[in-house]
Amino acid sequence: MTRRVCIIDTDPGTDDALAIWLALAAPQLDVRLVTVAGGNVGIDHTLRNARAIIGLARQPVPVVAGAQGPLLGAFRSETQVHGADGLAGVALPEGPPAAPGIAADAIRDLLRAEPRVTLIGIGPATNLALALATEPALIGHVEEIVLMTGAWSEGNITASAEFNAWSDPESLAMLLECGRPVTLATLELTGQALVTPDRIAALRAAGGGACLDAAARILAAVPPSRRFGHRGHPLHDPCAIAWLIDPTLFTHRDVHVHVECGGIARGRTVVDRWARGGAAANARLLDTLDADGFFALLTGRLASLA
Ligand code: BDR
Ligand code: CA
Repeated sequence: MTRRVCIIDTDPGTDDALAIWLALAAPQLDVRLVTVAGGNVGIDHTLRNARAIIGLARQPVPVVAGAQGPLLGAFRSETQVHGADGLAGVALPEGPPAAPGIAADAIRDLLRAEPRVTLIGIGPATNLALALATEPALIGHVEEIVLMTGAWSEGNITASAEFNAWSDPESLAMLLECGRPVTLATLELTGQALVTPDRIAALRAAGGGACLDAAARILAAVPPSRRFGHRGHPLHDPCAIAWLIDPTLFTHRDVHVHVECGGIARGRTVVDRWARGGAAANARLLDTLDADGFFALLTGRLASLA
């Protein structure tokens, strides 16, 4: 099997933790680098969390710090879901130290060294956009960009915007315009990956490894979502990873996406699902998810980790 060389750009984040573990456990993926931005919480916490997540999986993947905030505008965290520490109060052992340097440089270094790299963005898009903007000749080395971002109905940080898109809309717009294939797991898709008490119990029952145990504790600590009548909460970021592991779990369509960058609609992703505007498609929108298949994949893979 050819393993995809990947970079994960992240802001851990409860769901980021599960996404990283899922990627590390996937034989299809060769995760070479984890870059970190401020997002769900400030970068002091997201960097510490990323190091701890990698350390718990006992895999020698470098973790590099990046943007503290967006290209433009103010930084705002999201502590209602992720708690003040970003992991909903679940303490993980201290991880290995961060690798030296800055995320955008590390991304460009890997792109220079590898002819085909998949960029996985599960936080604000700043680090990825900075890397590509500062050496556009490397864009040809990007095989594909897969993002958890955006929403075509309602938002989750404002009425109209999803958190990652809202956090740095200019960077997201740059990625959508870079000319490489972009796949989007939006809120409508990730809302189908609803974490319920039954699914947490099934995860817990799958084994006793440290990552699986931490994943179950993290999921149990996230408050149920108002948007879903408190039946559970959506597991956003692992959907982007699952797409790369098993695309048969999804349906999708090609769409044009425009990102609003200012005012009350900051971060709004205007997704033309029915090609009404006639603009050429610039993204693949993940539409539906086989949720049981997704949770079976997640549980099976996490059970295989340390
Ligand atoms: C996205 O924002 C963050 O809170 C999550 O980690 C996810 O990446 C969902 O809107
Ligand atoms: Ca995230």
